[in-house]
Amino acid sequence: MQLTITKSETPKPKPDETQLGFGSFFTDHMFVMDYSRENGWHNPRIEPYHSFQLDPATMMLHYGQGIFEGLKAYRTQDGSIQLFRPRDNFKRLNRSSELLCIPPVEESFALEALKQLLTLEKDWVPRAKGTSLYIRPTVIATDPFLGVRASFTYRFFIILSPVGAYYAEGFHPVKIFVTKEHVRAVRGGVGEAKTPGNYAASLLAGNKAHDEGYTQVLWLDGVSQEFVEEVGAMNIFFVIDGEIVTPELNGSILPGITRDSVIRLARSWGLPVRERKIAISEVLNAHASGALSEIFGSGTAAVISPVGELKYGDTVITVGDGTVGPVSNRLFNAIQDIQYGVSEDVMGWIEPVC
Ligand SMILES: Cc1ncc(COP(=O)(O)O)c(C=O)c1O
Repeated sequence: MQLTITKSETPKPKPDETQLGFGSFFTDHMFVMDYSRENGWHNPRIEPYHSFQLDPATMMLHYGQGIFEGLKAYRTQDGSIQLFRPRDNFKRLNRSSELLCIPPVEESFALEALKQLLTLEKDWVPRAKGTSLYIRPTVIATDPFLGVRASFTYRFFIILSPVGAYYAEGFHPVKIFVTKEHVRAVRGGVGEAKTPGNYAASLLAGNKAHDEGYTQVLWLDGVSQEFVEEVGAMNIFFVIDGEIVTPELNGSILPGITRDSVIRLARSWGLPVRERKIAISEVLNAHASGALSEIFGSGTAAVISPVGELKYGDTVITVGDGTVGPVSNRLFNAIQDIQYGVSEDVMGWIEPVC
């Protein structure tokens, strides 16, 4: 497929790097390609960033048939741009598509298109410490049709957003609220897909947690409400008796790329890591006996998010001494150093761009 490039004639001024926040600014260009049953994926193009004109009956708007990804491009000390495990993101994108009955994209082509887009937009990758260019590949169902079925047409696009340092005010622990009332996903559903409905389903519980003064929701499984699944939009880890444990992937948990990186890195350091079922009662008991030393979330946005406090019903526990634990700290620094090219890419996770 031939990728065509149309450059913007009205480039935007770059935002102040100290005021980036997350997800508010978008670059000058985007990648777009379309799918039809007759032509498959076709007409790949890089165009000036623009709005889409959508028929009000567009299926994505009614039935939520869509999927997305989230990854980042990092600027290294020598000014070059690099990606962290992007092939895994495109692989996960296709797994999400499979669950939502969306035709797959060719992963190597999508990565090549992303690299071309990034090369054109390289000045948009911010320079300040901890900043990056967030990448949002998305697929939406585009048939103008009312009725529940898989769409016959789709649009795939990639937009880019310069984002600030997640820990601009320092690496500090968050407070999490265990919801007994709501569930994010159930086994047999689409919990392991990055699809909009999962995020819409998380909003009410998130609002309730905020109302109680907590930053994130800890999700229990949708069947027995007994086993820990994820925290906010992150995977979750516990350090119990010196062992790093994380819920095993079961179909309702998003298989995080940071999660996998944590597991591999920790194992490469000789630390014990186990993926298994973890009951919330086990976490509380481990805290009571002094065996629980750390809890942390993992995800692209924050890399590692240490948990300082957890509330379950009337029980509130302080994790460790409420500050950042040594395992969280070591993993955060190690992953970030690989992403920004500060340390050697011994795991083969870096994809150079330009
Ligand atoms: C629900 C959910 N879980 C976990 C993650 C972490 O995944 P990753 O490490 O690939 O960013 C994310 C973020 O993408 C997410 O949205």
